[in-house]
Amino acid sequence: MSEKRTTLQMEKDKPFRILQLTDIHIGGYIFTNKEDKQALNDIKLIVENAKPDFIAVTGDAAYPMPFWPKPFFSGSLNNLKASKKFGSLMESFNIPWAFVFGNHDCETWSFYNKDKLSDYYESLDNCLFQRGECFDKDRGNYCIKLLNADGSINNLLMFLDSNSYLGKMFFSGFDVIHDEQIEWYKKVVLENTKDGAMPPSLAFFHIPPKEFRDAWEKCYRGDPSVTYHLGYIQEKDNYVGYPKTKESNFFSEMVKLGSCKGMFFGHDHLSTMSLSYKGIRMTYGMGIDHLAYKGIKKRHGQRGGTIITIQPDGTFDVSLLPLEDLQGISYYKTKMDN
Ligand SMILES: [Fe+2]
Repeated sequence: MSEKRTTLQMEKDKPFRILQLTDIHIGGYIFTNKEDKQALNDIKLIVENAKPDFIAVTGDAAYPMPFWPKPFFSGSLNNLKASKKFGSLMESFNIPWAFVFGNHDCETWSFYNKDKLSDYYESLDNCLFQRGECFDKDRGNYCIKLLNADGSINNLLMFLDSNSYLGKMFFSGFDVIHDEQIEWYKKVVLENTKDGAMPPSLAFFHIPPKEFRDAWEKCYRGDPSVTYHLGYIQEKDNYVGYPKTKESNFFSEMVKLGSCKGMFFGHDHLSTMSLSYKGIRMTYGMGIDHLAYKGIKKRHGQRGGTIITIQPDGTFDVSLLPLEDLQGISYYKTKMDN
């Protein structure tokens, strides 16, 4: 296997476009052929329209869940087959892309562990995934340096495995980004700090931090410490799927460090909101999922891609690329009226 590329370079005086994709949920089985095809076609349409310089995938490409929410829903435990369906399409674009694991990619009973899936993602030519620094069960903590045209660092793109469950199963509660991973993040930032100038960084991972929920609560109460940018929370009762039973130090340590300016995640498929809180812009990527949520096939407003436009001065903005815009409003209306 050839050495993995760890840098991306911007063109002079031109912004750099990152497309975030999340929660693809490929079942990889005969029962999910239709949904898998729809998900892959959606991605194709989004990528063709977005024309990104780079694609960041924030987890749950595979969905090896055979028994929930209804019998044989996904039907397969073969998470490598599902990952390959997704990875093959991504490779066909010939655009560099990165991937982090979500909680579903390696479900409890799935056939392949994260090391086996890492072997696959590392073997792909355009995929910049690296097993990176591994501390426990996490795989895929790595940094891609986004360089300016003159070779200086524009931003560090930090990919983190936000882990899966505290126990062995889905209902045991979500895990957090561990302290060792936070230390690794700080170490990378400090290694790239020259003459006291700390580079800005953007973090990509799967499970949202508790502080997103805190910020959203403050936001809808009109607290001026939070800036609302775009999107919505459409999960029932304003649900945010952050880890409820374990404290995470990730957000607070990032605020103290001062390098991280943006966090991008998925996990809650109906949410697309972007908020700024304590100097960090937190954004739910638009999801793809046609399989995991009950009734998701008939819901469309949440589906699409998220565009992160980075300027030569290192600042960035976020915009949405809703799939229903690409497919035309008639598609949306027809589906909603049925
Ligand atoms: Fe998901």
